[in-house]
Amino acid sequence: MGGGIMKGIAPLLFTVAMAAALVAYAPPASGHGDGEVAPIYGLKIPAGYRDWELISVGRLGGSNNDLRAKLGNEVAIKAYREGKLPFPDGSIIARLAWHEVTSEENKKALGGVDSFSAGAATNLEFMVKDFEKYGATGGWGFAQFTDGKPDSEALHKTCFPCHAPAKDQDFIFTRYAP
Ligand code: HEC
Repeated sequence: MGGGIMKGIAPLLFTVAMAAALVAYAPPASGHGDGEVAPIYGLKIPAGYRDWELISVGRLGGSNNDLRAKLGNEVAIKAYREGKLPFPDGSIIARLAWHEVTSEENKKALGGVDSFSAGAATNLEFMVKDFEKYGATGGWGFAQFTDGKPDSEALHKTCFPCHAPAKDQDFIFTRYAP
């Protein structure tokens, strides 16, 4: 009897082990972090962030001269759409940015009208809501990554103070673009 069960279980275990191995060796999905923890707030790149929904887009002049998109996970997007403030625990807002490049291909197709597109990525920022953990910084944890690697502790000290002027919107500058 026991032997019979083992015979039935062994192939099953093998299948489970193979599936686990396949998951472990699968190429990283788009938006998958490499697991390095950013200083102060101890955050990693959240898995799957690249598939989140769009909150809005922006463009920064000056030395940044970039194009940016803000994406939100499900919790953040729901709060935005319901106009709920403060954002509930579990909300994550991502800020992606790219060098702005001119597209000659588009320009030609547009009869000479300038066309700008996203070039190489600059850096990646996240704000994660966890009121208990990050109570001292408005309930938000901050993280910035360049080429998948966390940026310096000194830089992470600048995040919260600079977001303070947006206190009335729970320290978030970006409004939802309808
Ligand atoms: C010099 C001021 C300043 C500093 C320093 C700063 N931010 Fe921001 N941040 C802004 C402003 C203004 C916006 C909205 C404009 C934009 O898109 O960049 C913004 C936008 C964001 C957003 C999108 C949500 C929102 O509030 O609109 C995230 C996420 C973010 N910042 C994370 C960070 C992180 C992480 C750091 C530290 C590594 C940081 N910020 C440092 C000013 C700042």
